[in-house]
Amino acid sequence: MVAARITVNGKETPISPATPHTTVLDFLRDRGLTGTKEGCAEGECGACSVLVARPGVNKPTDWVAVNACLVPVAALDGQEIVTSEGLATPGADGTPPTLHPVQEEMAVRGGSQCGYCTPGFVCSMASEYYRPDRCASAHADANGHADAEAHGDAEHGPNGFDLHSLSGNLCRCTGYRPIRDAAFAVGE
Ligand code: FES
Repeated sequence: MVAARITVNGKETPISPATPHTTVLDFLRDRGLTGTKEGCAEGECGACSVLVARPGVNKPTDWVAVNACLVPVAALDGQEIVTSEGLATPGADGTPPTLHPVQEEMAVRGGSQCGYCTPGFVCSMASEYYRPDRCASAHADANGHADAEAHGDAEHGPNGFDLHSLSGNLCRCTGYRPIRDAAFAVGE
């Protein structure tokens, strides 16, 4: 029998000795990946969001944000996940890591207040950032003409970012404006 394992931030990790009831959230935190936070533990707040790869046939991988508090880790046997720690690119020879574009925008625009919700937000943002048709929706108007300005509205950035992708993430500091600004700036 092949041992169950998942890939976490690019590293193959045995699932054992997790029980059938061990959530992805507990699995990660037990292994020191404490960027993934527990807020409500019942799928309401998004603090525990991580990215799960959904590879497509002849198309780019879709990175789906899921609530780690709801998913048994055993259900992801053989799959790949990325946490907030895995979004940054490690620095070489002791140099600091390079932040992922969504992390960079959250930092620059003050999108992180107390910080507790930030890892979940950046994972949901990254999922939207990688959405294969996001750029297409950013750069074409209803007539198919390039017109990013015309495409932006209260819920869609000129970069094609759909704010609905963050609807499962709550900020207890209620600092939603800079989070929105970061989302609408990423990839611009
Ligand atoms: Fe998972 Fe709140 S801790 S959604």
